[in-house]
Amino acid sequence: MGLKVFAPASVANMACGYDVLGFALNGPGDEIIIKKGGEKGLKITKITGAGGKLPYNVKSNTAGFAGLKLLEHLGLQDEPIALEIHKKMPFGSGLGSSAASAAGAVMAINEYLRRPLAKRDLLKFAVEGEQIADGAWHADNVAPALLGGIVLVRDNASLDVHKIPVPRGLFATVIHPKIEVLTKEARAILKKNISLKQCIAQTGNIAGLVVGLYNSDFDLIGRSLKDHIIEPQRASLIPNFYTVQEAAMKNGALGCSISGAGPSIFALSNNSLNAENIGNAMQRVFADNKVDSKLYISPINLEGTQLL
Ligand code: HSE
Repeated sequence: MGLKVFAPASVANMACGYDVLGFALNGPGDEIIIKKGGEKGLKITKITGAGGKLPYNVKSNTAGFAGLKLLEHLGLQDEPIALEIHKKMPFGSGLGSSAASAAGAVMAINEYLRRPLAKRDLLKFAVEGEQIADGAWHADNVAPALLGGIVLVRDNASLDVHKIPVPRGLFATVIHPKIEVLTKEARAILKKNISLKQCIAQTGNIAGLVVGLYNSDFDLIGRSLKDHIIEPQRASLIPNFYTVQEAAMKNGALGCSISGAGPSIFALSNNSLNAENIGNAMQRVFADNKVDSKLYISPINLEGTQLL
């Protein structure tokens, strides 16, 4: 007897909140299947959709490592468990692919073991798993992928995370141009220092975004969805970024910026029709420039990772 879990893609940073804000999408995402294994310990028995890019070795796989850390915590590392990873989303896309795998694995194991931990307490193990993908400890993809909704990470070290209310009608448009940007590399190019002026602008926007979300104030959300620090440094990694952003804004986006480390670009809007128009406009820019792209339109996923 086994079970299947779905773990969604997520959009980190939300423009102004580098490493501290993120939200989950309804799709795409990963499916993790868990069954009783034929031998001692956690084994990855099948990986599909990854084009041979993901390791079967549990310790070097984000899902495997997250699962192993959880099992060690529970003192059940010898439990015979077989894990299948069905990747139904692109890598290196800025959509939190490794976060989805890690969140899916810990959720699947916890459900299989009849829920020894509360979902919130799985977060630490999922972050440990995701960390092996880019070498950095941040929960802005993993927390929304696991817990759903829009999540503020007040402090990454202690995983002080908080779900923020999602205004009715808030929609995300995400476009993934078919190029690969590795998070590790997109982090490595960032300057280590910022000016006081940049800090003031960015913290004002983070606070404004949170207040806007609490009050369903779409104008305030729009004024706050700006990134003065990271976006200018990463924009050159994405072909036609500023033209796509301009097309989104002209078609009713509240704001538009890089999804996670890119190359995906996200926009938020206040209804599904605007979200579609924005998506079509973004996709036209890529098509005009002969860049293949895939479009995702989704409300904010409130559930996060779930048993199917
Ligand atoms: N906050 C992270 C970054 C998300 O922008 O590098 C990508 O993993």
